[in-house]
Amino acid sequence: MSLTLIITFIALLGSLYVFCPSSAELPWFEHPAKPDGSLSFLVVGDWGRRGAYNQTKVAHQMGIVGEKLKIDFIISTGDNFYDDGLTGVDDAAFFESFVNIYTAPSLAKQWYNVLGNHDYRGDVEAQLSPVLRDIDSRWLCLRSFIVNAEIAEFIFVDTTPFVNKYFTDPEDHVYDWNGIQPRKSYLANLLKDVDSALKESTAKWKIVVGHHTIKSSGHHGNTHELNLQLLPILQENEVDLYINGHDHCLERISSTESGIQFLTSGGGSKAWKGDIDWWNPKEDKFYYDGQGFMSVQITPTEVDVAFYDIFGNVDNQKSQTILDHQPINMGMQIPFKKLMLLHIIFIACLRLSAAELQRFEHRLKHDGSLSFLVVGDWGRRGSYNQSLVAYQMGLIGEKLEIDFVISTGDNFYEDGLTGEEDPAFLDSFTSIYTAPSLQKQWYNVLGNHDYRGDVEAQLSPVLTRKDSRWLCSRSFILDAEIAEFVFVDTTPFVDEYFEDPGDSTYDWRGVYRRKEYLSDLLKDVDGALKNSKAKWKIVVGHHTIKSAGHHGVTKELLLRLLPILEENNVDMYVNGHDHCLQHISSNGIEFLTSGGGSKAWRGDRNWWSPEELKLYYDGQGFMSVKMTRSEAVVLFYDVHGNILHKWSIPKEPLKAA
Ligand SMILES: *[C@@H]1O[C@H](CO)[C@@H](O)[C@H](O)[C@H]1NC(C)=O
Ligand SMILES: *[C@@H]1O[C@H](CO)[C@@H](O)[C@H](O)[C@H]1NC(C)=O
Repeated sequence: MSLTLIITFIALLGSLYVFCPSSAELPWFEHPAKPDGSLSFLVVGDWGRRGAYNQTKVAHQMGIVGEKLKIDFIISTGDNFYDDGLTGVDDAAFFESFVNIYTAPSLAKQWYNVLGNHDYRGDVEAQLSPVLRDIDSRWLCLRSFIVNAEIAEFIFVDTTPFVNKYFTDPEDHVYDWNGIQPRKSYLANLLKDVDSALKESTAKWKIVVGHHTIKSSGHHGNTHELNLQLLPILQENEVDLYINGHDHCLERISSTESGIQFLTSGGGSKAWKGDIDWWNPKEDKFYYDGQGFMSVQITPTEVDVAFYDIFGNVDNQKSQTILDHQPINMGMQIPFKKLMLLHIIFIACLRLSAAELQRFEHRLKHDGSLSFLVVGDWGRRGSYNQSLVAYQMGLIGEKLEIDFVISTGDNFYEDGLTGEEDPAFLDSFTSIYTAPSLQKQWYNVLGNHDYRGDVEAQLSPVLTRKDSRWLCSRSFILDAEIAEFVFVDTTPFVDEYFEDPGDSTYDWRGVYRRKEYLSDLLKDVDGALKNSKAKWKIVVGHHTIKSAGHHGVTKELLLRLLPILEENNVDMYVNGHDHCLQHISSNGIEFLTSGGGSKAWRGDRNWWSPEELKLYYDGQGFMSVKMTRSEAVVLFYDVHGNILHKWSIPKEPLKAA
């Protein structure tokens, strides 16, 4: 495109963005973030089929989600018009596949479009022409360009000319290569421009968008040329996301060799190709061989990616199926709980460390000690003495000046949360644990009851926005200097939930390759414990390993997790699941059950060796731990705040090396 054309183009663009000449050659647009600094947008690809192949349904759902997320713009990953692009600026397909399809008010935003290989089979210049923008002011399509949206910088890359086979073996297709000749220097200049744009960018998040895949287990697979030429530039410049279409699916691959997430949103219309290739399950986080689209929400500290299919009840805006949902945290310190002052406030959330588990940091008190409460099996809107337990936690929390609270899961009864908007979150959490001393970080794992609802809702940053104490992740590491906590997602270990779920429906999204999920998790737990240099090693899960209660031992954990705890000299295993308070001391590991957050008094207790069983209390209550470098003191309390049991564990001072 000639410079004059660009300038004419820009003149037509209105007030949303400004063309800024930069030292890089790529046209540059600015899109302001929301007043709170955040940004949200949808991504759709491979769509223009005059509404056919569910294009209209995808568009409808985009409208609903777009409204909900108050999106700032839409990105199209190309293949905008099938089969052969546009025939010219007057091609009716522009109306039939774009203007008349994406009609929802929330989609009346700027569309940033790149070209796909199908677009190159028509009149490419037509799609780039300002005439289309006169027809529909949302339309902006350029070969390669930059959108600066304050916290994020987007580099849109024209990927089609990279692919050799379109040149050497075009079959029956005719490509419109006007404007990219000579190809070699076109590509070399483009790569140089992308590299310098990334190097110059000071944005928190760097996002590259193209039509073709870099990594994909779909029909087209990896694009060899981009792997060789573009990927090294993305890696060198620590790009956070590469977003593409081309494969007609929704897909997320999390690279193990760099921090890049590869996100495919190519489900805008025709899909269901049915040919998925194998991909390393460590990287392959999500694959959906059907229609849909993606949303991205960005804050300075987090990128939240969700994929949606075409379903969703028009009457109920909450009911879109979210297929995959992944908050990706920025490698920086997050002032998690800004309201709280004093010594507790510091949490760092590092993304993708050597071990795969997310890692958080929590500072010690100035005197080098750490104290926290543990409660489990609680969310019942205050009933079954939940409020009484909460009240006593507030008193003890104050006395011990606790640093945080651990929840051992079964956070919401009976069936987890129905979604991010479920009022149970307020009724069972925010409005219950109201004491000032409990206004600390809560580290939560999921229980089996949580898996019976919308699991992703409990993991969602939306809850953290509602109550900044909330942090729930499937498995993660908490590094509190003298102590390292490894939180383990134990529910997927239990065969019964898969083989004999009874009337319960479990939400196994994210766990659907169960075997790999579990073996990866065990490997990560083992790696985290081996790497830990902390004095105290504590593992937290929902399910029991050793218990004389109603559920008893969890045989899958006994077989698979316990050997790892023993090998790594773990000091404590902390769990819930059995609705009681219990302490079993066995082979140097303290097994501590704190599952008395609400309903209890089951009355069915099994025999356990009195040598090992130090406490069994078949009622409501909670646990506190206070630790220093040389000692940990564990206390159990009932609903009246009476101390039921006290146990202190000495730690030998490390011998001089
Ligand atoms: C439309 O979507 C439904 C639900 O995903 C699917 O079963 C059907 O095959 C789709 N139709 C086409 C033509 O792809
Ligand atoms: C509440 O706690 C008291 C005291 O432990 C107990 O007697 C009572 O049964 C509990 N209520 C429920 C519903 O569990």
